[in-house]
Amino acid sequence: MNQANVIYEGKAKYLLKSDNEDEVIVYFKDDATAFNGVKKDNIASKGILNNKITTIIFKYLIKNGIKTHYLKTLNDREQLCQKVTIIPLEFINRNIVAGSMAKRLGVEEGTKLTRPIKEISYKCDELNDPLLNDDHAIGLGIVSEEDLMYCYEEMLKINNLLIKLFDSINLILVDFKIEFGFNKDNEILLCDEFSPDNCRLWEKDTMKKMDKDVFRRDLGNIIDTYTIILEKLEGLGEIENV
Ligand code: TMP
Ligand code: ASP
Repeated sequence: MNQANVIYEGKAKYLLKSDNEDEVIVYFKDDATAFNGVKKDNIASKGILNNKITTIIFKYLIKNGIKTHYLKTLNDREQLCQKVTIIPLEFINRNIVAGSMAKRLGVEEGTKLTRPIKEISYKCDELNDPLLNDDHAIGLGIVSEEDLMYCYEEMLKINNLLIKLFDSINLILVDFKIEFGFNKDNEILLCDEFSPDNCRLWEKDTMKKMDKDVFRRDLGNIIDTYTIILEKLEGLGEIENV
């Protein structure tokens, strides 16, 4: 990777210049962080696994009508994507109580919700990505009401598609975090990645954690875990409907 091409360095990815000014290259690093960068490690080949997993998931979502920034996978670590202006919100969908929600509300991890819960938090490392409500996000001018509602609708569609996909490989989609951005034509696209770094997946029969909680909570080897997820997804072949 040529350092001169770096537009932006995030915690787990670089954004690199491409030949086309409307496109960027997303480069998946091996860095793993948790608790807003307090816990850090470099885990050989994690980036390769997340690039491959994100590629499969984004292709499946695109085939099912979700607009994303993804254009093509270039190599083990790089994807060509549309250049976007990111909406500075983390969109979180929860199907089952876990993680920060369990802690914040004192509800037991694993509690089923009567319907999916949408959360948004403001993307700001200095403030530790604080949780916002819709009025905060709209009133502060972070996003328009119309665009926020569109993102919520897309997130619900993505949730339904991915619950089905993971269920077909014996995994429960507990929760996930996604991001959206505007392309040059002002279309809102799903951006960033979808990998075990940004979702929780539990094995259906054993409730074993098969995601980044393995790293966050020191539960085992994340490469072995992510490799199992990749192999299960690859085992589905060309996926459109599951
Ligand atoms: P949380 O329970 O820690 O709030 O996490 C909710 C979901 O969001 C979970 O699937 C992990 C994901 N997530 C990220 O992708 N990035 C983050 O920085 C955090 C805190 C969570
Ligand atoms: N993205 C978080 C961090 O900033 C890690 C996490 O997924 O919990 O370190």
